[in-house]
Amino acid sequence: MEYRTLGQSDIKVSELAFGAWAIGGWLWGGADSKDAIKAIETAIDHGMTTIDTAAVYGFGLSEELVGKAIKGKRARVQILTKFGLTWNEKKGEFFFASQDNAGKDVNIYRYSSKEKVISDCDQSLKRLGTDHIDLYQIHWADPTTPVSETMEALGILIKKGKIRAGAVCNYSLELMTEAEKIFAITSNQMPYSMVNRGIGKNIVPHCVEKNIGILAYSPLQRGLLTGKIKQGHKFNDGDTRPTTIYYKEPNLSRILQLTDNLKEIADELKVTLSQLVLNWTIQQPGITCTLAGARNAAQVLDNVKAADFRLTAEEISRINELLSNLKLETKI
Ligand SMILES: NC(=O)c1ccc[n+]([C@@H]2O[C@H](COP(=O)([O-])OP(=O)(O)OC[C@H]3O[C@@H](n4cnc5c(N)ncnc54)[C@H](OP(=O)(O)O)[C@@H]3O)[C@@H](O)[C@H]2O)c1
Repeated sequence: MEYRTLGQSDIKVSELAFGAWAIGGWLWGGADSKDAIKAIETAIDHGMTTIDTAAVYGFGLSEELVGKAIKGKRARVQILTKFGLTWNEKKGEFFFASQDNAGKDVNIYRYSSKEKVISDCDQSLKRLGTDHIDLYQIHWADPTTPVSETMEALGILIKKGKIRAGAVCNYSLELMTEAEKIFAITSNQMPYSMVNRGIGKNIVPHCVEKNIGILAYSPLQRGLLTGKIKQGHKFNDGDTRPTTIYYKEPNLSRILQLTDNLKEIADELKVTLSQLVLNWTIQQPGITCTLAGARNAAQVLDNVKAADFRLTAEEISRINELLSNLKLETKI
């Protein structure tokens, strides 16, 4: 496992990080908390020391599970969490309606006023059982609060010693440029996978030029690029994957054909498809850290081996050739 400096901060992140969204259960059709704790412990023990969570994942549950798993290991791990999505508090801009793990209706709002960011940080610290967060990220921009106000809050939290660095997620180039006027953002966390390379156009060149880290999220396209999901896959109730464009036809068939072709390369190299996909991702220009979600120790043990080898330039071009032939519909 390689450890990389995140942007201009002094934070060293593992090139492969543990993504803690699914373990919160919400939007993933539930999750097993015992398996989740074991998964995080396994990740840390195998050098995947960076953990990415968010206040909203399972409405605090993911942060609580991370807090339990890192007990006695805090000095060895880097905790990345997020603020800015609030639930059942009608403030800021309405984002979407959903249901919690118990099936109760929940409304999600984007809200990042200065007071809210500062008070949410205390809540996250409590759930995580720590006195500081390594990287505190706005989850989604709040159109009702000036970007400068949210960034000011991050500066205050750094001064108070509650966070080591502040960052953004899902920020367009325009939003990044606005934020950078008043705050040195450490990174931007963006969707990035073999089948979703949209950030390559303007976010990657900007981040490389300004030495801003990029955290790639959903690199396995939420499980699809592991090769285990086939036509007619049965998802649990509340799992939102089938509603996303990658899991709908005609994209699904095209991606499944791609995974069949990639599997041939993985077999030749004697690695699993997940390892091939994750290794390709960690080697992409500008990508500092690849966030790999997992629900249990077995998935972690598979994923972590993706850092044990390096695809050669020739192998990467072979993969890129397959990707260049993939045409996906962007609206279904
Ligand atoms: N900032 C944001 O807005 C944002 C958005 C999305 C994600 N993220 C972050 O990025 C992280 C990673 O993204 P993600 O969780 O969406 O998706 P992902 O990493 O592409 O996929 C994770 C899912 O794939 C399946 N999986 C993982 N490894 C596997 C293996 N070796 N074999 C078989 N199945 C495996 C598991 O789901 P099943 O077992 O259920 O199939 C797992 O939950 C998140 O956890 C979160 O920390 C951030």
